Amino acid sequence: MKVYIETYGCQMNVSDSGKIVHLFANQDYQPTSDSRSADLIIINTCSVREKPELKLFSALGRYIPLKRQRPELVIAVGGCVAQQWGKKLLERCPGLDIVFGTHQLDSLPQLVAGVRRSQKPASSTDFLACPGGLEVMARPDPKAVNAMVTIMQGCDNFCSYCIVPYVRGREYSRPSSAIIEEVRKLAEAGIKEVMLLGQNVNSYGLKAPGEISFAELLGMVHEVEGIERIRFTTSHPKDMSDELISAFATLPKLCPSLHLPLQAGSDAVLKRMGRGYTAAVYLENVEKLRQVMPDVALTTDIIVGFPGESEADFQQTLMMLEKVGYDQIYSFKYSARPGTRAADYEDMIPDEEKRDRLARCQALQNKISQTLLLAQVGKVSEVLVTGPSKRGEGEWSGRTPESRIVNFPAPVSISTKVVAGDIYRVKIVEAFKHSLKGEVVA
Ligand code: SAH
Ligand code: SF4
Ligand code: F3S
Repeated sequence: MKVYIETYGCQMNVSDSGKIVHLFANQDYQPTSDSRSADLIIINTCSVREKPELKLFSALGRYIPLKRQRPELVIAVGGCVAQQWGKKLLERCPGLDIVFGTHQLDSLPQLVAGVRRSQKPASSTDFLACPGGLEVMARPDPKAVNAMVTIMQGCDNFCSYCIVPYVRGREYSRPSSAIIEEVRKLAEAGIKEVMLLGQNVNSYGLKAPGEISFAELLGMVHEVEGIERIRFTTSHPKDMSDELISAFATLPKLCPSLHLPLQAGSDAVLKRMGRGYTAAVYLENVEKLRQVMPDVALTTDIIVGFPGESEADFQQTLMMLEKVGYDQIYSFKYSARPGTRAADYEDMIPDEEKRDRLARCQALQNKISQTLLLAQVGKVSEVLVTGPSKRGEGEWSGRTPESRIVNFPAPVSISTKVVAGDIYRVKIVEAFKHSLKGEVVA
Protein backbone atom coordinates (compact mmCIF):
# COMPACT_ATOMS: atom_id res chain seq x y z
CA MET A 1 0.00 0.00 0.00
CA LYS A 2 1.03 3.58 -0.51
CA VAL A 3 0.79 6.65 1.69
CA TYR A 4 0.92 10.24 0.44
CA ILE A 5 1.49 13.00 2.98
CA GLU A 6 1.17 16.74 2.55
CA THR A 7 2.56 19.08 5.21
CA TYR A 8 1.88 22.74 6.02
CA GLY A 9 3.22 24.91 8.82
CA CYS A 10 6.31 24.91 10.97
CA GLN A 11 9.27 22.57 11.39
CA MET A 12 7.40 20.79 14.16
CA ASN A 13 4.89 19.66 11.56
CA VAL A 14 7.63 18.67 9.11
CA SER A 15 9.21 16.59 11.85
CA ASP A 16 5.83 15.06 12.80
CA SER A 17 5.22 14.08 9.17
CA GLY A 18 8.57 12.26 9.15
CA LYS A 19 7.41 10.31 12.19
CA ILE A 20 4.08 9.46 10.55
CA VAL A 21 5.84 8.13 7.43
CA HIS A 22 8.00 6.01 9.74
CA LEU A 23 4.97 4.64 11.64
CA PHE A 24 3.32 3.63 8.37
CA ALA A 25 6.49 2.07 6.98
CA ASN A 26 6.16 -0.38 9.90
CA GLN A 27 2.63 -1.16 8.62
CA ASP A 28 3.82 -1.87 5.08
CA TYR A 29 2.82 1.49 3.63
CA GLN A 30 5.44 2.89 1.24
CA PRO A 31 5.60 6.68 0.89
CA THR A 32 4.64 8.06 -2.52
CA SER A 33 4.81 11.55 -4.02
CA ASP A 34 1.83 10.82 -6.27
CA SER A 35 -1.48 11.46 -4.50
CA ARG A 36 -3.45 9.72 -7.27
CA SER A 37 -1.85 6.34 -6.60
CA ALA A 38 -2.10 6.56 -2.81
CA ASP A 39 -4.24 4.24 -0.63
CA LEU A 40 -3.92 6.68 2.24
CA ILE A 41 -3.69 10.48 2.01
CA ILE A 42 -2.65 12.39 5.12
CA ILE A 43 -2.78 16.18 5.37
CA ASN A 44 -0.77 17.65 8.26
CA THR A 45 -2.19 21.11 8.82
CA CYS A 46 -1.35 24.50 10.33
CA SER A 47 -3.78 27.06 11.77
CA VAL A 48 -1.36 29.80 12.81
CA ARG A 49 -2.89 32.17 10.23
CA GLU A 50 -5.94 32.02 8.03
CA LYS A 51 -3.95 31.38 4.86
CA PRO A 52 -2.39 28.03 5.85
CA GLU A 53 -5.73 27.00 7.38
CA LEU A 54 -7.48 27.56 4.04
CA LYS A 55 -4.93 25.35 2.28
CA LEU A 56 -6.52 22.35 3.98
CA PHE A 57 -9.89 23.01 2.40
CA SER A 58 -8.49 23.39 -1.09
CA ALA A 59 -6.44 20.22 -0.61
CA LEU A 60 -9.58 18.31 0.43
CA GLY A 61 -11.31 19.70 -2.65
CA ARG A 62 -8.59 18.02 -4.72
CA TYR A 63 -8.36 14.72 -2.84
CA ILE A 64 -11.92 13.77 -1.83
CA PRO A 65 -13.02 13.43 -5.51
CA LEU A 66 -10.21 10.85 -5.99
CA LYS A 67 -12.40 8.48 -3.96
CA ARG A 68 -14.71 8.06 -6.95
CA GLN A 69 -12.01 6.10 -8.78
CA ARG A 70 -10.48 4.63 -5.62
CA PRO A 71 -13.24 3.82 -3.10
CA GLU A 72 -10.65 2.15 -0.83
CA LEU A 73 -8.78 5.45 -0.45
CA VAL A 74 -8.65 6.71 3.15
CA ILE A 75 -8.13 10.44 3.80
CA ALA A 76 -6.87 11.68 7.19
CA VAL A 77 -6.35 15.23 8.46
CA GLY A 78 -4.00 15.89 11.35
CA GLY A 79 -2.08 18.76 12.89
CA CYS A 80 -3.28 22.06 14.25
CA VAL A 81 -6.44 22.61 12.17
CA ALA A 82 -7.57 19.07 12.99
CA GLN A 83 -6.95 19.74 16.67
CA GLN A 84 -8.94 22.97 16.51
CA TRP A 85 -11.94 21.61 14.64
CA GLY A 86 -12.11 18.12 16.13
CA LYS A 87 -14.92 15.95 14.83
CA LYS A 88 -16.79 19.00 13.46
CA LEU A 89 -14.34 18.76 10.57
CA LEU A 90 -15.89 15.40 9.61
CA GLU A 91 -19.33 17.04 9.38
CA ARG A 92 -18.00 19.99 7.43
CA CYS A 93 -16.10 17.79 4.92
CA PRO A 94 -18.12 14.75 3.75
CA GLY A 95 -15.73 12.15 2.35
CA LEU A 96 -13.08 12.87 4.96
CA ASP A 97 -12.36 9.69 6.96
CA ILE A 98 -10.14 10.64 9.88
CA VAL A 99 -9.39 13.64 12.06
CA PHE A 100 -6.45 13.16 14.42
CA GLY A 101 -5.07 15.71 16.87
CA THR A 102 -1.58 16.91 17.70
CA HIS A 103 -1.27 14.45 20.60
CA GLN A 104 -2.54 11.47 18.58
CA LEU A 105 0.27 10.90 16.11
CA ASP A 106 1.12 7.41 17.31
CA SER A 107 -2.47 6.17 17.30
CA LEU A 108 -2.99 7.05 13.63
CA PRO A 109 -2.13 3.57 12.24
CA GLN A 110 -4.80 2.02 14.52
CA LEU A 111 -7.30 4.72 13.51
CA VAL A 112 -6.69 3.96 9.84
CA ALA A 113 -7.04 0.21 10.39
CA GLY A 114 -10.27 0.80 12.35
CA VAL A 115 -11.77 2.97 9.59
CA ARG A 116 -10.86 0.39 6.95
CA ARG A 117 -12.69 -2.26 9.00
CA SER A 118 -15.76 -0.27 10.02
CA GLN A 119 -16.06 1.91 6.88
CA LYS A 120 -17.06 4.74 9.23
CA PRO A 121 -15.27 8.05 9.78
CA ALA A 122 -13.45 8.54 13.09
CA SER A 123 -11.84 11.32 15.06
CA SER A 124 -9.43 11.42 17.98
CA THR A 125 -8.30 14.79 19.29
CA ASP A 126 -8.01 14.53 23.08
CA PHE A 127 -5.02 16.20 24.72
CA LEU A 128 -2.85 13.79 26.71
CA ALA A 129 -0.60 14.47 29.70
CA CYS A 130 2.27 13.27 27.54
CA PRO A 131 1.65 13.94 23.82
CA GLY A 132 1.66 10.68 21.85
CA GLY A 133 4.28 10.39 19.16
CA LEU A 134 7.03 12.39 20.86
CA GLU A 135 9.03 9.23 21.42
CA VAL A 136 8.59 7.98 17.86
CA MET A 137 11.90 8.36 16.07
CA ALA A 138 11.83 8.69 12.30
CA ARG A 139 14.55 6.78 10.45
CA PRO A 140 16.93 9.45 9.17
CA ASP A 141 17.14 9.82 5.41
CA PRO A 142 20.41 8.05 4.48
CA LYS A 143 21.44 11.06 2.37
CA ALA A 144 20.65 13.61 5.10
CA VAL A 145 23.31 15.51 7.01
CA ASN A 146 20.96 17.18 9.46
CA ALA A 147 17.95 16.07 11.49
CA MET A 148 15.34 17.64 13.73
CA VAL A 149 14.82 16.46 17.29
CA THR A 150 11.68 17.57 19.11
CA ILE A 151 12.59 18.33 22.72
CA MET A 152 9.30 19.80 23.87
CA GLN A 153 5.77 20.39 22.71
CA GLY A 154 3.06 22.88 23.49
CA CYS A 155 3.22 26.40 24.82
CA ASP A 156 2.02 28.12 27.99
CA ASN A 157 2.70 31.69 26.88
CA PHE A 158 -0.66 32.51 25.32
CA CYS A 159 0.50 35.52 23.32
CA SER A 160 -2.76 37.31 22.59
CA TYR A 161 -2.70 36.67 18.82
CA CYS A 162 -1.56 33.06 18.84
CA ILE A 163 -3.50 29.83 18.36
CA VAL A 164 -0.57 27.52 19.15
CA PRO A 165 -1.27 27.00 22.90
CA TYR A 166 -4.84 25.98 22.00
CA VAL A 167 -3.83 23.49 19.33
CA ARG A 168 -0.59 22.06 20.74
CA GLY A 169 -1.66 22.02 24.38
CA ARG A 170 0.34 22.68 27.53
CA GLU A 171 4.10 22.83 27.51
CA TYR A 172 5.63 19.37 27.87
CA SER A 173 9.37 18.65 27.97
CA ARG A 174 10.62 15.25 26.85
CA PRO A 175 12.95 13.49 29.31
CA SER A 176 16.52 14.56 28.61
CA SER A 177 17.65 10.91 28.65
CA ALA A 178 15.33 10.13 25.71
CA ILE A 179 16.53 13.19 23.80
CA ILE A 180 20.19 12.28 24.22
CA GLU A 181 19.47 8.69 23.20
CA GLU A 182 17.82 9.93 20.00
CA VAL A 183 20.74 12.27 19.22
CA ARG A 184 23.16 9.37 19.73
CA LYS A 185 21.22 7.19 17.31
CA LEU A 186 21.17 10.00 14.77
CA ALA A 187 24.93 10.45 15.09
CA GLU A 188 25.42 6.71 14.59
CA ALA A 189 23.30 6.97 11.43
CA GLY A 190 25.68 9.64 10.08
CA ILE A 191 23.83 12.81 11.07
CA LYS A 192 26.23 15.71 11.66
CA GLU A 193 23.86 18.52 12.61
CA VAL A 194 20.85 18.50 14.90
CA MET A 195 18.12 21.08 15.19
CA LEU A 196 16.41 20.93 18.60
CA LEU A 197 12.75 21.81 18.20
CA GLY A 198 10.08 23.23 20.45
CA GLN A 199 7.60 26.11 20.54
CA ASN A 200 9.66 27.72 23.27
CA VAL A 201 12.89 25.77 23.74
CA ASN A 202 14.49 28.04 26.31
CA SER A 203 11.91 27.14 28.91
CA TYR A 204 12.81 23.46 28.44
CA GLY A 205 12.65 21.48 31.65
CA LEU A 206 11.53 24.36 33.85
CA LYS A 207 8.19 22.74 34.62
CA ALA A 208 9.44 19.16 34.85
CA PRO A 209 10.63 18.51 38.43
CA GLY A 210 14.21 17.27 38.52
CA GLU A 211 14.81 17.90 34.82
CA ILE A 212 17.92 19.72 33.62
CA SER A 213 17.79 23.21 32.07
CA PHE A 214 17.97 23.95 28.36
CA ALA A 215 21.57 25.16 28.64
CA GLU A 216 22.49 21.91 30.41
CA LEU A 217 20.71 19.91 27.73
CA LEU A 218 22.77 21.70 25.10
CA GLY A 219 25.89 20.72 27.04
CA MET A 220 24.85 17.05 26.93
CA VAL A 221 24.03 17.12 23.22
CA HIS A 222 27.43 18.74 22.73
CA GLU A 223 29.11 15.65 24.16
CA VAL A 224 27.58 13.28 21.62
CA GLU A 225 30.36 12.09 19.36
CA GLY A 226 29.75 12.60 15.64
CA ILE A 227 27.48 15.60 16.08
CA GLU A 228 29.34 18.64 14.78
CA ARG A 229 26.72 21.33 14.75
CA ILE A 230 23.83 22.13 17.07
CA ARG A 231 20.99 24.55 16.37
CA PHE A 232 17.66 25.11 18.08
CA THR A 233 14.37 26.88 17.48
CA THR A 234 12.30 28.70 18.69
CA SER A 235 13.58 30.77 21.61
CA HIS A 236 11.44 33.31 23.36
CA PRO A 237 13.19 36.67 23.98
CA LYS A 238 11.70 36.89 27.49
CA ASP A 239 13.39 33.60 28.46
CA MET A 240 16.90 34.31 27.13
CA SER A 241 18.86 33.41 30.27
CA ASP A 242 22.46 34.46 30.85
CA GLU A 243 23.19 30.75 31.25
CA LEU A 244 21.97 30.17 27.68
CA ILE A 245 23.89 33.14 26.31
CA SER A 246 27.11 31.90 27.89
CA ALA A 247 26.48 28.41 26.45
CA PHE A 248 27.26 30.00 23.08
CA ALA A 249 30.68 30.96 24.42
CA THR A 250 31.50 27.57 25.95
CA LEU A 251 30.03 25.14 23.41
CA PRO A 252 31.88 25.39 20.09
CA LYS A 253 29.41 23.09 18.31
CA LEU A 254 26.59 25.49 19.07
CA CYS A 255 26.16 27.44 15.83
CA PRO A 256 26.28 31.23 15.86
CA SER A 257 22.77 31.60 14.48
CA LEU A 258 19.64 32.31 16.42
CA HIS A 259 15.97 32.77 15.56
CA LEU A 260 14.63 35.26 18.08
CA PRO A 261 11.05 36.30 17.25
CA LEU A 262 10.58 40.01 17.87
CA GLN A 263 7.00 40.34 16.53
CA ALA A 264 6.90 44.13 16.88
CA GLY A 265 9.14 47.07 17.77
CA SER A 266 6.63 49.17 19.71
CA ASP A 267 6.40 48.58 23.45
CA ALA A 268 2.69 49.38 23.41
CA VAL A 269 2.07 46.70 20.78
CA LEU A 270 4.36 44.18 22.50
CA LYS A 271 2.36 44.74 25.68
CA ARG A 272 -0.96 44.09 23.96
CA MET A 273 0.57 41.02 22.32
CA GLY A 274 1.47 39.77 25.82
CA ARG A 275 5.08 39.14 24.85
CA GLY A 276 6.62 39.96 28.23
CA TYR A 277 9.56 42.09 27.02
CA THR A 278 10.20 45.59 25.73
CA ALA A 279 12.23 46.59 22.69
CA ALA A 280 15.01 47.75 25.06
CA VAL A 281 15.18 44.37 26.81
CA TYR A 282 15.27 42.64 23.43
CA LEU A 283 18.15 44.86 22.29
CA GLU A 284 20.01 44.20 25.54
CA ASN A 285 19.83 40.46 24.84
CA VAL A 286 21.10 41.01 21.30
CA GLU A 287 23.96 43.05 22.70
CA LYS A 288 24.88 40.30 25.19
CA LEU A 289 24.74 37.67 22.45
CA ARG A 290 27.00 39.73 20.22
CA GLN A 291 29.48 40.11 23.06
CA VAL A 292 29.97 36.33 23.15
CA MET A 293 29.46 35.80 19.39
CA PRO A 294 30.25 38.92 17.39
CA ASP A 295 29.31 37.20 14.12
CA VAL A 296 25.99 35.73 15.25
CA ALA A 297 23.39 35.70 12.49
CA LEU A 298 19.95 36.59 13.79
CA THR A 299 16.59 35.89 12.21
CA THR A 300 13.16 36.86 13.45
CA ASP A 301 9.38 36.81 13.01
CA ILE A 302 7.42 40.03 12.53
CA ILE A 303 3.68 40.63 12.63
CA VAL A 304 2.46 43.82 10.94
CA GLY A 305 -0.96 45.38 11.46
CA PHE A 306 -1.65 43.99 14.93
CA PRO A 307 -4.94 45.52 16.20
CA GLY A 308 -4.33 49.14 17.19
CA GLU A 309 -0.87 49.32 15.59
CA SER A 310 -0.41 52.97 14.53
CA GLU A 311 1.93 54.15 11.80
CA ALA A 312 4.27 55.37 14.55
CA ASP A 313 4.18 51.90 16.18
CA PHE A 314 4.98 50.32 12.84
CA GLN A 315 7.92 52.70 12.37
CA GLN A 316 9.34 51.29 15.62
CA THR A 317 9.34 47.85 14.03
CA LEU A 318 11.26 49.21 11.03
CA MET A 319 13.69 50.86 13.41
CA MET A 320 14.32 47.56 15.19
CA LEU A 321 15.08 45.88 11.85
CA GLU A 322 17.74 48.55 11.24
CA LYS A 323 19.13 48.38 14.77
CA VAL A 324 19.40 44.59 15.01
CA GLY A 325 20.37 43.86 11.41
CA TYR A 326 18.72 40.49 10.86
CA ASP A 327 20.00 38.11 8.22
CA GLN A 328 16.41 37.22 7.39
CA ILE A 329 12.93 37.85 8.69
CA TYR A 330 9.66 35.95 8.38
CA SER A 331 7.00 38.65 8.25
CA PHE A 332 3.24 38.24 8.28
CA LYS A 333 0.09 40.32 8.24
CA TYR A 334 -1.80 39.92 11.50
CA SER A 335 -4.50 37.29 11.06
CA ALA A 336 -7.29 37.09 13.66
CA ARG A 337 -7.50 33.57 15.09
CA PRO A 338 -10.83 32.52 16.56
CA GLY A 339 -10.67 32.01 20.32
CA THR A 340 -7.55 34.12 20.89
CA ARG A 341 -7.75 37.32 22.95
CA ALA A 342 -6.59 39.64 20.17
CA ALA A 343 -9.42 38.45 17.91
CA ASP A 344 -11.75 40.49 20.16
CA TYR A 345 -9.54 43.59 20.27
CA GLU A 346 -10.83 46.80 18.78
CA ASP A 347 -9.12 48.84 16.07
CA MET A 348 -8.52 46.10 13.53
CA ILE A 349 -6.21 47.41 10.81
CA PRO A 350 -7.70 47.34 7.29
CA ASP A 351 -6.17 44.71 5.02
CA GLU A 352 -4.96 47.32 2.56
CA GLU A 353 -2.94 49.02 5.30
CA LYS A 354 -1.53 45.68 6.50
CA ARG A 355 -0.48 44.85 2.96
CA ASP A 356 1.24 48.20 2.60
CA ARG A 357 3.11 47.80 5.89
CA LEU A 358 4.16 44.28 4.99
CA ALA A 359 5.55 45.48 1.66
CA ARG A 360 7.49 48.29 3.33
CA CYS A 361 8.80 45.96 6.00
CA GLN A 362 9.97 43.42 3.42
CA ALA A 363 11.53 46.07 1.16
CA LEU A 364 13.61 47.39 4.05
CA GLN A 365 14.62 43.88 5.08
CA ASN A 366 15.66 42.94 1.54
CA LYS A 367 18.13 45.82 1.60
CA ILE A 368 19.45 44.81 5.02
CA SER A 369 19.77 41.14 4.02
CA GLN A 370 21.60 42.10 0.84
CA THR A 371 24.06 44.33 2.70
CA LEU A 372 24.80 41.56 5.20
CA LEU A 373 25.33 38.95 2.48
CA LEU A 374 27.61 41.31 0.51
CA ALA A 375 29.67 41.85 3.65
CA GLN A 376 30.52 38.13 3.59
CA VAL A 377 32.45 38.42 0.32
CA GLY A 378 36.15 37.84 0.96
CA LYS A 379 35.60 35.92 4.21
CA VAL A 380 36.54 32.27 4.69
CA SER A 381 33.91 30.06 6.25
CA GLU A 382 33.52 26.42 7.25
CA VAL A 383 30.81 25.01 5.01
CA LEU A 384 29.04 21.78 5.97
CA VAL A 385 28.13 20.19 2.64
CA THR A 386 24.49 19.16 2.42
CA GLY A 387 24.58 17.76 -1.14
CA PRO A 388 24.85 18.70 -4.79
CA SER A 389 23.85 22.27 -5.60
CA LYS A 390 20.51 22.81 -7.32
CA ARG A 391 22.32 24.98 -9.81
CA GLY A 392 24.05 22.21 -11.63
CA GLU A 393 26.81 19.72 -12.31
CA GLY A 394 29.97 19.72 -10.31
CA GLU A 395 28.67 22.22 -7.74
CA TRP A 396 28.10 21.50 -4.09
CA SER A 397 25.85 23.26 -1.67
CA GLY A 398 26.19 23.67 2.07
CA ARG A 399 25.77 26.00 4.98
CA THR A 400 28.07 28.18 7.04
CA PRO A 401 27.85 27.97 10.84
CA GLU A 402 25.62 31.07 10.61
CA SER A 403 23.32 28.98 8.38
CA ARG A 404 23.98 30.96 5.19
CA ILE A 405 23.72 28.90 2.02
CA VAL A 406 26.95 28.63 0.02
CA ASN A 407 27.31 27.01 -3.41
CA PHE A 408 30.79 26.21 -4.63
CA PRO A 409 32.44 24.28 -7.47
CA ALA A 410 33.53 20.86 -6.24
CA PRO A 411 37.31 20.57 -6.38
CA VAL A 412 38.21 18.20 -9.25
CA SER A 413 39.44 15.45 -6.96
CA ILE A 414 36.12 15.14 -5.15
CA SER A 415 33.73 15.97 -7.98
CA THR A 416 32.66 12.36 -8.39
CA LYS A 417 32.55 11.54 -4.68
CA VAL A 418 29.61 12.04 -2.39
CA VAL A 419 30.78 14.61 0.12
CA ALA A 420 27.58 15.44 2.00
CA GLY A 421 28.49 15.69 5.67
CA ASP A 422 32.04 16.90 5.03
CA ILE A 423 33.18 20.33 6.10
CA TYR A 424 35.21 22.50 3.71
CA ARG A 425 36.95 25.81 4.18
CA VAL A 426 35.38 28.02 1.55
CA LYS A 427 36.21 31.57 0.56
CA ILE A 428 33.12 33.63 -0.30
CA VAL A 429 33.52 35.25 -3.72
CA GLU A 430 30.05 36.50 -4.60
CA ALA A 431 26.69 37.30 -2.97
CA PHE A 432 23.31 36.63 -4.58
CA LYS A 433 19.84 37.43 -3.31
CA HIS A 434 19.50 34.46 -0.97
CA SER A 435 22.82 32.65 -1.17
CA LEU A 436 26.57 32.97 -1.50
CA LYS A 437 29.07 31.62 -3.97
CA GLY A 438 32.45 30.36 -2.80
CA GLU A 439 35.69 28.58 -3.67
CA VAL A 440 37.36 25.86 -1.64
CA VAL A 441 40.61 27.02 -0.06
CA ALA A 442 43.41 24.69 0.97
N1 SAH B 1 6.77 29.67 19.24
C1 SAH B 1 7.25 30.52 18.27
C2 SAH B 1 6.52 30.49 16.94
C3 SAH B 1 5.06 30.55 16.88
S1 SAH B 1 4.21 30.61 15.39
C4 SAH B 1 7.32 31.89 18.88
O1 SAH B 1 6.93 32.10 19.98
O2 SAH B 1 7.80 32.78 18.25
C5 SAH B 1 5.31 31.34 14.25
C6 SAH B 1 5.07 32.78 13.97
O3 SAH B 1 3.81 33.00 13.38
C7 SAH B 1 5.06 33.69 15.17
O4 SAH B 1 6.35 34.00 15.61
C8 SAH B 1 4.32 34.91 14.67
O5 SAH B 1 5.19 35.83 14.07
C9 SAH B 1 3.42 34.33 13.61
N2 SAH B 1 2.03 34.37 14.05
C10 SAH B 1 1.46 33.68 15.07
N3 SAH B 1 0.16 33.99 15.18
C11 SAH B 1 -0.11 34.89 14.20
C12 SAH B 1 -1.29 35.60 13.80
N4 SAH B 1 -2.44 35.44 14.46
N5 SAH B 1 -1.19 36.44 12.76
C13 SAH B 1 -0.02 36.62 12.11
N6 SAH B 1 1.10 35.98 12.44
C14 SAH B 1 1.07 35.12 13.48
FE1 SF4 C 1 2.51 31.41 20.11
FE2 SF4 C 1 3.61 33.06 21.86
FE3 SF4 C 1 3.63 30.44 22.32
FE4 SF4 C 1 5.13 31.45 20.38
S1 SF4 C 1 5.35 31.89 22.58
S2 SF4 C 1 3.83 29.65 20.26
S3 SF4 C 1 3.88 33.12 19.60
S4 SF4 C 1 1.83 31.74 22.24
FE1 F3S D 1 1.23 25.99 12.51
FE2 F3S D 1 0.76 24.35 14.46
FE3 F3S D 1 3.25 24.93 13.79
S1 F3S D 1 -0.36 26.19 14.05
S2 F3S D 1 3.08 27.01 13.06
S3 F3S D 1 1.77 23.87 12.54
S4 F3S D 1 2.48 24.54 15.84
